[in-house]
Amino acid sequence: MPQTLAEMAVDVLTCAHGREKTARSHAHAAAWFAARDAGTPIPVGRADPPLRPARPARPELRDPRDVPKRKPGSPQGRIALLHAVAHIELNAVDLHWDIIARFTDIPMPPGFYDDWVKAADEESKHFNLMCDCLEDMDSHYGALPAHAGMWRAAEDTTGDIMGRLAVVPMVLEARGLDVTPGMIDIFRKAGADQAVAALETIYAEEVGHVAYGSKWFHFLCGRHDIDPRDEFHRLVRHYFRGSLKLPFNAEKRAEAGLPPDFYWPLADETPKKHQPR
Ligand SMILES: [Fe+2]
Ligand SMILES: [Fe+2]
Repeated sequence: MPQTLAEMAVDVLTCAHGREKTARSHAHAAAWFAARDAGTPIPVGRADPPLRPARPARPELRDPRDVPKRKPGSPQGRIALLHAVAHIELNAVDLHWDIIARFTDIPMPPGFYDDWVKAADEESKHFNLMCDCLEDMDSHYGALPAHAGMWRAAEDTTGDIMGRLAVVPMVLEARGLDVTPGMIDIFRKAGADQAVAALETIYAEEVGHVAYGSKWFHFLCGRHDIDPRDEFHRLVRHYFRGSLKLPFNAEKRAEAGLPPDFYWPLADETPKKHQPR
């Protein structure tokens, strides 16, 4: 059994099977919070996380251009959409455990670890919710090809915790807040209640993950006495390829601690019809 939080993280990262990975993630999160509550916290420790997490043999990972286009009007299209979300959630489990294990040389308050352990546990639930929906539709995670490039943001930022916070929770997970309401609509119109309920859970909990990113980004800016907005722009331009896509979910982004002057200057403003809400 892993003795430290960093070892728990590596135990999750080196497990290939999705349901098994998420079961370990949940068990380690429960152990972490039980020990915190008992006043005998598990030490963070140090470990050597793999550059890339272990993954199952299926899904086959392909360049996004070679992943077939999804037409959400059909049951097959809706399966493809849920499959893509399941893939994102499994990556998110690993991303949160990776930030825990990757930067243990930087002293952080216990709340930093609480937040990412909680986020990793929630992503584990999200992956299982998506798998349950797929299985209910006679499919499963691994049945379709998936996006190969999803770990790139992690690899690009292995040496930069602030770059990691800027790109992963504050750009990629914030993008989830923009697109999830449209997805919920697709499943609501199809009468797919199980998928609607699952996506609503994901939508509600993802606000917290973006907020953790913003909180710890601001904390580190304070520690180094740097301007958070300028630093965010610099790091996103450095590590994130391409501009941010519109439209933005301004309300949920604000709730998560992301003001418009953080993301609007990075936006792709073509076509011009999109304006701030
Ligand atoms: Fe999630
Ligand atoms: Fe998330």
